[in-house]
Amino acid sequence: MSSPKRRLLVTSALPYANGQIHIGHLVEYVQTDIWVRFQRMRGHEVHYVGADDTHGTPIMLRAEKEGITPKELIANVWKEHKRDFDDFLISFDNYYTTDSPENETLSQSIYLKLRDAGLIEKRAIEQAYDPVKEMFLPDRFIKGECPKCGAKDQYGDSCEKCGATYSPTDLKNPFSVVSGATPIKKISDHYFFKLSDPRCETFLRDWTQVRTPLQPEARNKMKEWVGQPGDSKLGDWDISRDAPYFGFEIPDAPGKYFYVWLDAPIGYYASFLNYCQSKGLNFEEWVRPDTTTEQYHFIGKDILYFHTLFWPATLHFAGYRTPTNVFAHGFLTVDGEKMSKSRGTLISAHSVIESGFNPEWFRYYFATKLNDSMEDLDLNLQDFVARVNSDLLGKYINIASRSAGFLVKRFGGVVSDAAMHNPLLTEIADANQRIAELYETREYAKALRTIMELADKVNGFVDENKPWEIAKDPEREADLQKVCSVTLEAFRLLSLYLKPVLPQVTAGVEEFLSIPAMSWNDVKTPLSSENPIKAYQHLMTRVEAPQIEALLAANL
Ligand code: 2FM
Ligand code: ZN
Repeated sequence: MSSPKRRLLVTSALPYANGQIHIGHLVEYVQTDIWVRFQRMRGHEVHYVGADDTHGTPIMLRAEKEGITPKELIANVWKEHKRDFDDFLISFDNYYTTDSPENETLSQSIYLKLRDAGLIEKRAIEQAYDPVKEMFLPDRFIKGECPKCGAKDQYGDSCEKCGATYSPTDLKNPFSVVSGATPIKKISDHYFFKLSDPRCETFLRDWTQVRTPLQPEARNKMKEWVGQPGDSKLGDWDISRDAPYFGFEIPDAPGKYFYVWLDAPIGYYASFLNYCQSKGLNFEEWVRPDTTTEQYHFIGKDILYFHTLFWPATLHFAGYRTPTNVFAHGFLTVDGEKMSKSRGTLISAHSVIESGFNPEWFRYYFATKLNDSMEDLDLNLQDFVARVNSDLLGKYINIASRSAGFLVKRFGGVVSDAAMHNPLLTEIADANQRIAELYETREYAKALRTIMELADKVNGFVDENKPWEIAKDPEREADLQKVCSVTLEAFRLLSLYLKPVLPQVTAGVEEFLSIPAMSWNDVKTPLSSENPIKAYQHLMTRVEAPQIEALLAANL
């Protein structure tokens, strides 16, 4: 509104290019997208970028299994991911890939700067090796018998049967998941980013504890790692992997590749660089240390370390700006339990669309659950049906259908300008600052509660004034027009507030009300008799309970 124009670069975490987007992922993209759309409505300059995270052993092995090259695999998956994001109205300005020339150049140059700063060290380490497949094995590619209870076929980190945790070397009768061979130990040189260097410690202590307004839970977690001077737990970070590996080769080290987690976050910048080049934006201006632009990363709480330790340190010591903030969210549960394939609750984004669900039902439902914390959130399927049908349709959409008919039939769609000074409208318009603050601070649940309370008041106004009764009295034509005009203007304001969450429905509202695309300032631009509204067209349908059963069945 009257605040100065901000310049924001926003990202969501980059999904791996070896699996489908499911509703757990969607929570994050919806959370980010609502924030981005809100900032755009405020008139700020916002660039929202993403990409597929394409490198690493699992992707290499999956391609091999499918009999295609990794590049073919990631191209196929990219198309699916892009389709899913479009379906859920995620408004990326650029959706790219980490396997790009921009990312290779940036990753190599960042690495060289870290090396020149004396922060890279080569060290020989011993690791599990598959002698048949001739490759080093990441922990999750080694299985064996649990050292505690003897259960067969357990992963190298923990036992699914007894819950014991251990390291892969503790497994009895270990075998490589790739070839079945018994892993041997083999030594090779690895490259480490020296996070234990006093410069890194000092920087990260300041960045996580003083400079960055991290979420309190995040700040406390990081405190454990950065500790007090002299007692930091920061270990050096192994950023290289041996061939065969799908990724970028390290410039001064043939046969060695950047570990996927080195080039993944740099992929945010590579996507943005690619976008800047196509739009004629000045990339440098956004990434130099003294920039006045803002940079935000939305992530899940499981990848906090990468974004609040490794990533800022990488940027800082390579001479770039650091993130303005990192926003972590919790995990999605379904009916109170972890999503599970066997219960059909690992719901893919595509199955939601194929089963005839309206993606905005999900956007709305997730928004009613989201706040600024890292707490997990639950998709309760019964509650989902109730919230969509009774709140979204019963309270909000219904307002339009209750008033538009009379206005169109009796007044040619022309609203009464005099009606725009009604106290109910002032009350709704006055809520705009509070609602804006709630969106800004990612308190979407509270924002929607506030909006739905206002919707209750509008419905109360209609119930009190009973336009259907007034309509029977030929003497009260003017009253009828006024009541319907107040109601529709109230509907416009509620739509404006809901626009970040429901971009499609509200585009339909703008069309039906014959108004241009609303920005936040348009709180002050009421409907006018000069632009008659159009006949009401259905904006959204109800969700039917049997659809939920079908959706779960589709994911079994
Ligand atoms: O955890 C994941 O799914 C990673 N692919 C996220 C990467 S985010 C960023 F750093 F690239
Ligand atoms: Zn066990």
